[in-house]
Amino acid sequence: MPIANGDSLDNFGMKAEIQDYSKALDVLKEYPTRDGLDVDTLIDSDKHGALTYNDFLILPGYIGFPASDVSLDTPVTKRITLKAPLLSSPMDTVTEHNMAIHMALLGGLGVIHHNCSPQDQAEMVKKVKRYENGFILDPVVLSPKATVGEAKNLKAKWGFGGFPVTENGTLRSKLVGIVTSRDIQFHHNLDDPVTAVMATDLVTAPAGTTLAEANDVLRSSKKGKLPIVDGDSNLVSLLSRSDLMKNLHYPLASKLPQSKQLICAATIGTREEDKERLRLLVEAGLDIVILDSSQGNSIFQLEMVKFVKKTYPEIDVIGGNVVTREQAAALIAAGVDGLRIGMGSGSACITQEVMAVGRPQAAAVRSVSSFAARFGVPCIADGGIQNVGHIVKGLAMGASTVMMGGLLAGTTESPGEYFVSSEGQLVKAYRGMGSIAAMEDKKAGAGSKDSKASNAGTARYFSEKDRVLVAQGVAGSVLDRGSITKFIPYLVAGIQHSLQEIGVKSIEAFHDEINKGLVRFEMRSASAQTEGNVHGLHNYEKKLYS
Ligand code: IMP
Repeated sequence: MPIANGDSLDNFGMKAEIQDYSKALDVLKEYPTRDGLDVDTLIDSDKHGALTYNDFLILPGYIGFPASDVSLDTPVTKRITLKAPLLSSPMDTVTEHNMAIHMALLGGLGVIHHNCSPQDQAEMVKKVKRYENGFILDPVVLSPKATVGEAKNLKAKWGFGGFPVTENGTLRSKLVGIVTSRDIQFHHNLDDPVTAVMATDLVTAPAGTTLAEANDVLRSSKKGKLPIVDGDSNLVSLLSRSDLMKNLHYPLASKLPQSKQLICAATIGTREEDKERLRLLVEAGLDIVILDSSQGNSIFQLEMVKFVKKTYPEIDVIGGNVVTREQAAALIAAGVDGLRIGMGSGSACITQEVMAVGRPQAAAVRSVSSFAARFGVPCIADGGIQNVGHIVKGLAMGASTVMMGGLLAGTTESPGEYFVSSEGQLVKAYRGMGSIAAMEDKKAGAGSKDSKASNAGTARYFSEKDRVLVAQGVAGSVLDRGSITKFIPYLVAGIQHSLQEIGVKSIEAFHDEINKGLVRFEMRSASAQTEGNVHGLHNYEKKLYS
């Protein structure tokens, strides 16, 4: 007689027998199915409504390998594979070049937002493509007219000293000296020009010097900074000793085979003028373009997909956002290389409340990913990721990668400055791209009605003929999270540990075993969710990694 779930073995008089392991395995064979639910039963909305990440858990499997053996290699498009399944959102409080560079160095991908002029966005793409590990390609440069007071202010602002001085105060101009912290520390006449205190006995290295060679020069010269100059003594980049002390080794860095450059992705809209924006981005070296729309199944996006594929066959195009198979089918037919899934699950999003459209994220990811997999189109689970568990659940539902906004907005690498909140905590701004603030941002040239089309927020959430801006997002702030150089490795290690508990050695094996019904799930009642969180403690500190 098969044992029903929850029955005690004692009831069947088997206690003695079950202690013999082989007998336990034999008894197990009597069960028609494995413990828990297969993914299709889990996701069957007829039974229990559409699910979000918090509504279910994954059952543990067998651990036969160390967590560090788990491979997180995963495709982001049909052609491009990453070593970590992590993307940062194309939002103006999340991803500009600094975030994109560090996400790529750490194995993921940062998608540069387009709430800025096409020229500014192309400049950011260039910075990612030109980035060489260890070389600072956009150092803070002073003009000979700058004062000691200004140098002190810059040191206070950026937290580092050692500013190169060039003839006209910019990069690619003749290097004339370097102002170090020591030069200005005890110099009290703040109006003196920096030329009065700067060092002029410079040790430099020529453009084309490799990182290893430059390191040697820095070490033997005992200087804090090494300017790299071209044949005419123009400054082209800078190497810093303090960076050398940090770990400059990024084994997971996202690069195309045979390329030393980091992979770069950016968004555009689907209007006619976005074709010119795309031209500039491609010229700057772009690898992947994401068509940014909250509802991707539109004539405008389908035509843009076809345009990109025809005009720039070397560029991969990701369409979205979608949450249904039908939306996905249209984009797959148009030729997308990847899909972005999510509508209304973002942490700064009010789409579901205002528009009454959207879909709970786990249900959306499963539905679209299982369909897209039949065409070899990888999917991004976009929005609603609050912790490592949510990442693993997004992958479990069939996504190849996840995209995060709010989780990364409070890091050092996101745009903007930290400030102290009214409760005295260190925070950074985070806003939905459909918030009124983002849609009206003057920086994006959208201050007047005429220029609304050039703003990413309005392009994503606003129709040209609309007279009223209807918000689909909010503007707020998130807590300081430190640098992603610590946070992303924590997420990577967390995912590896989770897959180890489940008993799968790679994301590919995870997908495979889920589809075969070997990895199992369980629904989580409201009380199960309470049980699964910290409870009953008088107080506690939640430190996630060290
Ligand atoms: P989060 O990681 O939960 O913060 O979600 C980030 C995602 O929210 C982004 O990648 C976008 O897909 C989505 N998003 C960004 N801005 C808005 C908005 O204003 N309304 C709705 N969704 C948004």
